[in-house]
This record gives sequence, C-alpha cells and structure tokens, in this order.
Amino acid sequence: MKNFSLNNAMLSIILHQRNELLSTFQKKVRKLFGRFFFTNLFIYFGYSKEKIEQKYFNICKSEFLSIKKYLPRKLNYTLSIGCGMGGIEFFFSSAKGFTKLDLVDRNFISKKVVYGFNISNSEAYNDLDCTRDFLLLNKFPKQKFKVYDFDQDKLPVNKYALIVSLKSLDFHYPFSIYKDYIKKVSNLRTVLILDTNRPDYFRSIYKKVIIIKKVINDIHPYCRIYCQGIII
Ligand SMILES: C[S@@+](CC[C@H](N)C(=O)[O-])C[C@H]1O[C@@H](n2cnc3c(N)ncnc32)[C@H](O)[C@@H]1O
Repeated sequence: MKNFSLNNAMLSIILHQRNELLSTFQKKVRKLFGRFFFTNLFIYFGYSKEKIEQKYFNICKSEFLSIKKYLPRKLNYTLSIGCGMGGIEFFFSSAKGFTKLDLVDRNFISKKVVYGFNISNSEAYNDLDCTRDFLLLNKFPKQKFKVYDFDQDKLPVNKYALIVSLKSLDFHYPFSIYKDYIKKVSNLRTVLILDTNRPDYFRSIYKKVIIIKKVINDIHPYCRIYCQGIII
C-alpha cells in the first residue's frame, strides 16, 4: 500500500490532529484566523486532497517505522489511546501475531483547540465514525478492531501486549487520567509507548524505560518513550 484514502470529513479532522500536514505559512495564517475557522476555509479552498492523503500516509508510516523495533515480538492484543484517525494504528495489522486492535478517543472537536498540555483534559479533536470509516475505507479487517468513546463507553478490559499513545496521553493531558486503567490492562510484559516531556516520572513507575527519540525543535518538545513492567 502506498497511500491512504480519505474523505472530506476525515481531511478536516486530521488537520487538527497532525500539525505537520500544514506548511509554515499555513500555520501562520491559522494562527491569525483561529484553528477552527482556518481548517474549514482550508478544506474548501486551499488543498489538494491527494497531497494531504499522501502526506498523512507518509507521516503515519514513518511514525510506525520509528517504533517498529520496540514492538512486542507478538503484537496480539493492542490498545491505542488517543488514536485520532488511526493512520499509525493502520500499520499494526501487518505486524507479526497481530490479533485485535482496540482504539480509544473522544468524540468531539473543541471549537478553540489549544495546542499544548491541558491538565483538565477539556480538549479533543476527533469523530469516532470517521476513525471507523477510515480504517474500513483503507481495508483494515472489520472484525479486528473496535473503537471506544472515552466519555461514553466502558473501556475494554484485556491484557494488552502493546499500549500506544502518540502525541496524546501525557502529551496533551496527564497520565493520571488513565493510570489505574493502564495498570488493570497491563501485565509485566506489556509494552507502553507514549510521548511525554517527563520521562523521569515514568522511570519511577516502570521497571524499564528507554528513550526512543527526543524531539527538541518543536513548539511542544517531547520524548517518545518505551516502558515495560509497570510497578505502581
Ligand atoms: C494530537 S492528536 C494525536 C492523534 C494520533 N495519536 C496521532 O498521532 O496522529 C491527540 C488525540 O488525543 C485525543 N484525546 C484527547 N483527550 C483524550 C482522552 N481523554 N482519551 C483519549 N483520547 C483523547 C484527541 O481527541 C486527539 O485525537
């Protein structure tokens, strides 16, 4: 597969989720007009659908490749927290031993999206029907994934081989929101991969922590970390 297919509703949502899809000039214009207004304007007048599809595919593939060597040997049960559209998770279906993917996100788009850390976790930018449609449109096997609404659904209970949260948990909102849940659905072999700017905190609650990458030249600097063996 060399590209994703996206419809217009999906396009507008991924522009909220992945900043890299916009050029520096477009980001400046967005700052001037506000994120919500800009995104709608951009969708109708200023984009090439094919270009965004290709860009989003390349971003997701390269994110997947950046974590590939840290994935458990058998990626049977996998949980994604703050999956967004699910472009990165799409690639999990090709991993060895892949059985089932559970995806958790919220089902609304904040009018004023603040790009940064928000302790009260009042922000979200997803539409869960779009996530389902995106995976199906791109031929992710229907029986191998399930989407959960953080605010409405009972979260899935399983012992996951992998829990992943890119640019979401502890990047936009505190780990404490999911800490008890993560403990419940982990065993000592469960691997957690997430983006944070406080790796030392994770060293205090996991037996093993590895820095996968450090991103410093970003409006929101962070480390991508691998954790295994939850202690508390
Ligand atoms: C920057 S986007 C990242 C999306 C995707 N992980 C990616 O890397 O492209 C952050 C995502 O976190 C979601 N989010 C915010 N609060 C959440 C919560 N409490 N639980 C799950 N997802 C949440 C947002 O709706 C959004 O889809």
